Amino acid sequence: MTDIAEKPREADAREADDRPHDFSALPVVSNDVYTAPLKRPAHVGEDWLEPQQTQYDSEDDKIWDDLFARQMGVLPGRACSAMLEGLEKLDLGKGGVPDFGELSEELGKLTGWSVVPVPMLIPDHVFFWHLANRRFPAGNFIRTRETFDYIQEPDVFHDVFGHVPLLTDPTFADYMQEYGRAGWKAMRYNKLKALGALYWYTVEFGLMLEAGEPRIYGAGILSGPTEAIFALEGESPNRIMLNVDRVMRTDYVIDDLQPTYFVIESFEDLYRQTVERDFDRLYRNLGAGFTYANSAVIDVDNVLHRGTQEYFLRGGRGSSAKPV
Ligand SMILES: [Fe+2]
Repeated sequence: MTDIAEKPREADAREADDRPHDFSALPVVSNDVYTAPLKRPAHVGEDWLEPQQTQYDSEDDKIWDDLFARQMGVLPGRACSAMLEGLEKLDLGKGGVPDFGELSEELGKLTGWSVVPVPMLIPDHVFFWHLANRRFPAGNFIRTRETFDYIQEPDVFHDVFGHVPLLTDPTFADYMQEYGRAGWKAMRYNKLKALGALYWYTVEFGLMLEAGEPRIYGAGILSGPTEAIFALEGESPNRIMLNVDRVMRTDYVIDDLQPTYFVIESFEDLYRQTVERDFDRLYRNLGAGFTYANSAVIDVDNVLHRGTQEYFLRGGRGSSAKPV
């Protein structure tokens, strides 16, 4: 019964995907596609985007400087070279929250990307639309002293310090655009969750080999001091070579350190593994939920480090467990 009922929809999705996409316009979302719901904040216009960057005060600038200094005490020797070079090229350490206009001008010259201010997390289809047009939506607000160590919503430090430097790398910049385009297809197959897992395990929490050693390129790791050490040197988490099919079937945690990190050989490897993949076939074969737990090690894995999971077994965030 289910098979027969689902076949016409798969055929529809394939047919729809054969049509050329207009990436300049917002993607059309059909009623059966779930995208992140969002309430418009009172201070934001009806287009949901803030055309102007927030005016930061001196305390905001000081918070940026302190966060920057803290990360620079941890990242040299741990972050991938493209990230550290990107920080230099964009002069992100010159003091205070960077101006998006200046940043976009520099980035535009290097890879054609720009940075656009957004008030908070934006709906998936709007996010894909920006990426497909080489625009990175960056959170406008900056955390406070009270949330200095951990915030769940991405702020300007996470987005600009963590994500933007890598957009100076031509191959990674192309990967990000292709990811936005891939969102169109994922929406048609109703597989946003699977595509989200790929983003999570690459753009947010990815590691990459440099001279045979894992280095960090994921923005979620780059923008916090604890995970930068835990991801590379911790005994608890698994470190496994990236396999796109497997990752898109793997659950993840959004409010704690990761039980597993996936490692790529290079940005060229990441681009090849995703852009040259037959996503139609993959989406047709994916189930509704995730197949693998976030701590699982499975037969096909190329394992660099099999984690003890001690941190998580002791209770993770909110317990007294040390991130070891
Ligand atoms: Fe992020």
